[in-house]
Amino acid sequence: MTKRVTKAVFPVAGLGTRFLPATKSVPKEIMTLVDKPLIQYAIDEARAAGIEEFIFVTARGKSALEDYFDHAPELESRLEEDGKHKLLETLKSTYMPSGAIAYIRQHQALGLGHAVWCARHLIGDEPFAVILPDDVIAAEKPCLQQMVEAHRETGGCMVAAMEVPNERTKSYGVLDVEPGHGDAMKVRGMVEKPEPADAPSNLAVIGRYILSPEVMRHLDSGEKGAGGEIQLTDAIAKEIAGPRGVHGYRFSGERYDCGSKAGFLQATVAFGLAREELRDEFGQYLQEMVAVRNAAQ
Ligand code: UTP
Repeated sequence: MTKRVTKAVFPVAGLGTRFLPATKSVPKEIMTLVDKPLIQYAIDEARAAGIEEFIFVTARGKSALEDYFDHAPELESRLEEDGKHKLLETLKSTYMPSGAIAYIRQHQALGLGHAVWCARHLIGDEPFAVILPDDVIAAEKPCLQQMVEAHRETGGCMVAAMEVPNERTKSYGVLDVEPGHGDAMKVRGMVEKPEPADAPSNLAVIGRYILSPEVMRHLDSGEKGAGGEIQLTDAIAKEIAGPRGVHGYRFSGERYDCGSKAGFLQATVAFGLAREELRDEFGQYLQEMVAVRNAAQ
């Protein structure tokens, strides 16, 4: 029987250079979409999938991220005094049970594979999820929950997959899958950041994974891959020949790459328009902007 997935690793130790100068002092994961930091979207998704232990792989300069999960008694009593119950509820929804969060340090940004490996002692011998908070996914059923349900059938390793334009393959891990139907596709090969001509398909791996503990053993070697970094994809690829193999999961939902400026802005517009209290005013403003832009062209 497949073990239940109750632990998730959130690698947040990257330098976030694409958002400089903001990331000089603000961790990328604290940047907000409308009014919620990226990390809160990731936590909410993990909770919906049944995750109970949240392991953050952090680095120097990320203390704002650690503080974010602390209780805020002063703010709480002020909101209570002022009768601002809705805001109080919002505040309390960010609280996490004692002992549910652990922080591990990655001392050097040696790559995503290395960041995940830093959590090996907390993972032990269980399957675990990995969530990259800069991939934000809007979905009716949260993406990780879709994957956890599919993983009950497949076991082994599972990576979230989506089709990308051919010219974008060099930004992703790309899958070679067996032909077939269904959302869980059996993987027979994985390549990290291939040039379009070398890519086995246009099915890209994005930031949601369910991994078997064997992946940690593969990471023990500290082998460097594409870009001189210790790549998670390379360690997962070693499980393709394993007893339960690797599956690519074609999730339902819209993914925003909030690690890039264009993706972050697109997500801001999409999440802004999805808010009832903002929809009319913000939608009207966008329409006017587009009209002005078209008239000027
Ligand atoms: P990115 O490739 O987006 O790198 O990492 P980055 O440093 O965050 O951002 P840029 O490219 O400089 O703008 C993908 C995920 O892997 C984590 C990042 O925090 C992010 O969640 N990561 C990456 C680590 O935790 N450690 C690493 O050594 C590398």
